[in-house]
Amino acid sequence: PTITFTQPSGEATVLTVDEGTSLMRAAVTNGIEGIVGECGGQAMCATCHVFVRPEFADQLPEISDDEEEMLDCTTAERTESSRLGCQIKMSSTLSNIVVDVPSDQV
Ligand code: FES
Repeated sequence: PTITFTQPSGEATVLTVDEGTSLMRAAVTNGIEGIVGECGGQAMCATCHVFVRPEFADQLPEISDDEEEMLDCTTAERTESSRLGCQIKMSSTLSNIVVDVPSDQV
Protein backbone atom coordinates (compact mmCIF):
# COMPACT_ATOMS: atom_id res chain seq x y z
CA PRO A 1 0.00 0.00 0.00
CA THR A 2 0.98 3.63 -0.35
CA ILE A 3 0.31 6.64 1.84
CA THR A 4 0.28 10.17 0.51
CA PHE A 5 1.07 12.86 3.08
CA THR A 6 0.06 16.33 1.99
CA GLN A 7 1.64 19.26 3.82
CA PRO A 8 -0.20 22.53 4.53
CA SER A 9 1.95 24.01 1.73
CA GLY A 10 0.42 21.53 -0.70
CA GLU A 11 3.62 19.55 -1.08
CA ALA A 12 2.84 15.82 -1.21
CA THR A 13 5.03 12.84 -0.38
CA VAL A 14 4.07 9.32 -1.39
CA LEU A 15 5.45 6.43 0.67
CA THR A 16 5.21 2.75 -0.13
CA VAL A 17 4.91 0.80 3.13
CA ASP A 18 4.44 -2.76 4.37
CA GLU A 19 1.02 -3.95 5.48
CA GLY A 20 0.67 -3.70 9.26
CA THR A 21 2.80 -0.55 9.48
CA SER A 22 0.99 2.35 11.11
CA LEU A 23 0.66 5.61 9.32
CA MET A 24 2.55 7.32 12.17
CA ARG A 25 5.45 4.83 12.05
CA ALA A 26 5.76 5.20 8.30
CA ALA A 27 5.85 8.98 8.61
CA VAL A 28 8.40 9.07 11.43
CA THR A 29 10.69 6.50 9.78
CA ASN A 30 10.68 8.49 6.57
CA GLY A 31 11.06 11.92 8.13
CA ILE A 32 7.66 13.29 7.12
CA GLU A 33 7.46 16.80 8.52
CA GLY A 34 4.66 17.48 11.00
CA ILE A 35 4.16 13.94 12.34
CA VAL A 36 5.86 13.50 15.70
CA GLY A 37 4.60 10.30 17.34
CA GLU A 38 5.89 11.23 20.78
CA CYS A 39 4.27 8.33 22.68
CA GLY A 40 5.46 5.72 20.23
CA GLY A 41 2.00 4.73 19.07
CA GLN A 42 0.12 4.22 22.35
CA ALA A 43 -2.72 6.67 21.59
CA MET A 44 -1.40 8.82 24.42
CA CYS A 45 0.05 11.96 22.85
CA ALA A 46 -1.96 13.10 19.80
CA THR A 47 1.21 14.29 18.01
CA CYS A 48 0.42 11.94 15.13
CA HIS A 49 -2.83 13.78 14.30
CA VAL A 50 -3.79 13.68 10.63
CA PHE A 51 -6.82 14.57 8.55
CA VAL A 52 -7.90 11.59 6.48
CA ARG A 53 -9.47 12.52 3.14
CA PRO A 54 -13.22 11.76 3.27
CA GLU A 55 -13.14 9.19 0.47
CA PHE A 56 -11.19 6.84 2.75
CA ALA A 57 -13.29 7.37 5.87
CA ASP A 58 -15.36 4.21 5.59
CA GLN A 59 -12.25 2.03 5.22
CA LEU A 60 -10.76 3.12 8.52
CA PRO A 61 -10.87 1.16 11.77
CA GLU A 62 -13.37 2.33 14.40
CA ILE A 63 -12.18 5.05 16.76
CA SER A 64 -11.35 3.42 20.12
CA ASP A 65 -12.12 5.10 23.45
CA ASP A 66 -8.43 5.96 23.91
CA GLU A 67 -8.19 7.51 20.48
CA GLU A 68 -11.45 9.39 21.03
CA GLU A 69 -10.05 10.97 24.19
CA MET A 70 -6.75 11.98 22.58
CA LEU A 71 -8.48 13.45 19.54
CA ASP A 72 -9.87 16.06 21.89
CA CYS A 73 -6.28 17.05 22.79
CA THR A 74 -4.89 17.73 19.34
CA THR A 75 -2.98 20.97 18.79
CA ALA A 76 -4.63 21.72 15.46
CA GLU A 77 -8.39 21.83 15.85
CA ARG A 78 -10.14 18.49 15.51
CA THR A 79 -12.40 18.02 12.49
CA GLU A 80 -14.63 15.22 11.27
CA SER A 81 -11.66 13.78 9.40
CA SER A 82 -9.27 13.84 12.36
CA ARG A 83 -7.56 10.57 13.30
CA LEU A 84 -4.46 9.47 15.16
CA GLY A 85 -1.93 8.19 12.64
CA CYS A 86 -0.68 5.53 15.05
CA GLN A 87 -4.12 3.92 15.17
CA ILE A 88 -4.30 3.44 11.42
CA LYS A 89 -2.50 0.31 10.31
CA MET A 90 -1.88 -0.03 6.63
CA SER A 91 -3.68 -2.84 4.83
CA SER A 92 -4.65 -3.72 1.31
CA THR A 93 -8.08 -2.14 1.82
CA LEU A 94 -6.43 1.16 2.65
CA SER A 95 -4.26 1.09 -0.40
CA ASN A 96 -3.32 4.56 -1.59
CA ILE A 97 -4.77 6.48 1.35
CA VAL A 98 -4.31 10.26 1.27
CA VAL A 99 -3.99 12.33 4.45
CA ASP A 100 -3.40 15.98 5.22
CA VAL A 101 -0.82 16.92 7.84
CA PRO A 102 -2.02 19.63 10.27
CA SER A 103 -0.19 22.94 10.34
CA ASP A 104 0.44 22.57 14.09
CA GLN A 105 1.27 19.35 15.86
CA VAL A 106 2.77 20.27 19.24
FE1 FES B 1 1.07 9.17 20.27
FE2 FES B 1 -0.23 8.44 18.09
S1 FES B 1 1.88 8.44 18.43
S2 FES B 1 -1.02 9.17 19.93
